[in-house]
Amino acid sequence: MNIAVFVSGRGSNLQAILNSNELKKLVGVKVVFSDKLDCAAFKVAEDYSIPTFSIGNKDGCISYSELSNLLNQYQIDLIVLAGFLKLIPQEIVRNFSGKIINIHPALLPSFGGKGMYGINVHKAVFESSAKVSGASIHFVDETYDTGKIIAQKCVDISDVYSPEEIAERVLKVEHELLPFVILKYAEGKIKRVDNRIVIEP
Ligand code: GRF
Repeated sequence: MNIAVFVSGRGSNLQAILNSNELKKLVGVKVVFSDKLDCAAFKVAEDYSIPTFSIGNKDGCISYSELSNLLNQYQIDLIVLAGFLKLIPQEIVRNFSGKIINIHPALLPSFGGKGMYGINVHKAVFESSAKVSGASIHFVDETYDTGKIIAQKCVDISDVYSPEEIAERVLKVEHELLPFVILKYAEGKIKRVDNRIVIEP
């Protein structure tokens, strides 16, 4: 299965995907895209000789229509959003219906939506005095963080003293959850049953 990973920051989730020995047998990261002209995640991709492209209207960027062509050219089966900060255009969401997943560093539907990214999420969770947080992986539709939830993993944050501590604990479970979900997707074990998403054993 060919995947494209969309990034904008450190690339630790991309690294977790590339580190997964289980994934290697079934999944190839064919291309990496970012809304940034450069980011640390591109360095991760380049270490594995994976082509990278920046999307936007600045010099050195590709357009969204060129993105569509590249997704077809690389015969992408699954798009993985791991930090990409822009909305995916409706045309691409429609063409890849059920084939785009996003990882969010909180327990959706709480603490999601426009502007809820990076440390902003963990500040909101910290301010709420919530005792648990975690990572969510969901299908992507036309709005931020609203697609059907595929998987979640909780972390206890009852003893934290800062949003940064929450971020650290959540990132750890992200690195476990994302490769797991991609593997189950590749195995064809992610199913829609009535109005819910289930992962077959
Ligand atoms: C992760 O926290 C992910 O949940 C969010 O963006 C961040 C990307 O981090 N969507 P990294 O670039 O994978 O380290």
